Amino acid sequence: MLEAMMLQKVNKRLLSMVLLTLLCCNIIVLRQNNATKERDWAIKETRSDATPAECIINDGKAVVHEKDPMLANELIGAIDNFKMKMDQHEMPSVESIGPSFYFLTKDPRPERNWPALSRAWNATHAVVDDNSVTNAGSDIWGSQGLGDEIIMEVKNVPKSHPVKLLEPGKYAAFSGWYVGNFGHYLHDHLSKIAWLKSLVSDDTKFLLPYHELHKNILTVVDDRFVKERVIWVQYDEVVHASEGSLTILIPKANFPFPGGFPQTGTIYTEHLRRWLEESNWSSKQSTGEKKGKVIFYTRSGSSIRRVVNSELEELLIQKTIAAMKRRGQTEEDLVIFNGHGEDGNMLSIEAQFELYSSSDLVIGPHGSGLANVIWMDPRCNSKNRPKVIEFASSSRTPAVQGGSMYGYWFLYGSLPWMDYHQIYYTSGDDLADGEVFIDPQEFEETLNKLL
Ligand SMILES: *[C@@H]1O[C@H](CO)[C@@H](O)[C@H](O)[C@H]1NC(C)=O
Ligand SMILES: *[C@@H]1O[C@H](CO)[C@@H](O)[C@H](O)[C@H]1NC(C)=O
Ligand SMILES: *[C@@H]1O[C@H](CO)[C@@H](O)[C@H](O)[C@H]1NC(C)=O
Repeated sequence: MLEAMMLQKVNKRLLSMVLLTLLCCNIIVLRQNNATKERDWAIKETRSDATPAECIINDGKAVVHEKDPMLANELIGAIDNFKMKMDQHEMPSVESIGPSFYFLTKDPRPERNWPALSRAWNATHAVVDDNSVTNAGSDIWGSQGLGDEIIMEVKNVPKSHPVKLLEPGKYAAFSGWYVGNFGHYLHDHLSKIAWLKSLVSDDTKFLLPYHELHKNILTVVDDRFVKERVIWVQYDEVVHASEGSLTILIPKANFPFPGGFPQTGTIYTEHLRRWLEESNWSSKQSTGEKKGKVIFYTRSGSSIRRVVNSELEELLIQKTIAAMKRRGQTEEDLVIFNGHGEDGNMLSIEAQFELYSSSDLVIGPHGSGLANVIWMDPRCNSKNRPKVIEFASSSRTPAVQGGSMYGYWFLYGSLPWMDYHQIYYTSGDDLADGEVFIDPQEFEETLNKLL
């Protein structure tokens, strides 16, 4: 059936409906976008359809801890609004091209690390995730209008590029938009690869643009997948299968950024959660007898932005230890994490995975150390459900990240299975000394609810 979907455009509509119904449980609403072209069917799913009910905690939302009632209302409203948008989020279209294809991801470097745009084509069709080319923020499929231009453009590509030949077979490709960035790979790329993986058959190989960091992260997620199914391609390298079909995701135009990835959405995150569970956690016991480690993420010494004032940080750490003692833990179970190991070098991705996956509570200011929360126990029935306390900005502290409250719950397109809490800076400045403050009493109350 999957093969049929890849090869027969005529039946695509019907087949994708069947396919997604099989894959994604309950209610799926298919809606025809009035741009009339066949491919403009948008798939809509709600989070409750996607995430098992026993997984969802706190109604799937980040919990606001804020004493000022006006600000608290504003923040709760923003989270509700975000959740609603995520629940109704449009998925990208899934396109396939065959019975032979070319594929290329453009290298945005050295000027910038983004956008890494890609295109797939055969003699008559082209698929492009390039907003600037199409001007419609959408894809090109077909041989009319702009499609002709794209095909002309891409047809000339093999002449100026080395072409790597692929074995006959089924392929899928994902480029994302950002090259070699830890946080962006985690929250923008991984979950889309997880989704794409769920759509294609197990013998489909993945064409992914190579960067050492991409490879290291994906290896931690699923080393077998990397060994058996990933073909790393270089940026700017054209790959070609003379007998092969390619499945590729084309982002929709509008949200949250015009014209391309990243596109967050709860459904993607749910696929990532399942993938992590299957590849790494399903064999582990979850007795809950052994409490997880507590990680306190500090930016002190490693950053000049969002560094918690040092006296305050010490007080928060003491409060954390006191709360841990109440659940039978000692200071030994607390890890102060600054991104580096004892030897002063950056901790490897694998070591970060090991550390965070042994933790059930992560505390700290917004920063890449918090992106690692994705490595915590993803199982719905886990007795060590991940708990997070993130210190975030808000309209009260416009000098910190422009007052944006977007922490990792937002960046991942929500993390409904995590007991996720946000405490907002009482004051702080990104530019002057970079120091931030939170209310220690607010912190203590939050901690007491969690431990
Ligand atoms: C098509 O979409 C446009 C803009 O979104 C809207 O104004 C118009 O009413 C729609 N037409 C139909 C037939 O749904
Ligand atoms: C190109 O791919 C499309 C979509 O799979 C297919 O319909 C078309 O026949 C292909 N063109 C050629 C020349 O193979
Ligand atoms: C989970 O991943 C880590 C890091 O790659 C690995 O060391 C560990 O063996 C994996 N666990 C399971 C149960 O697969």
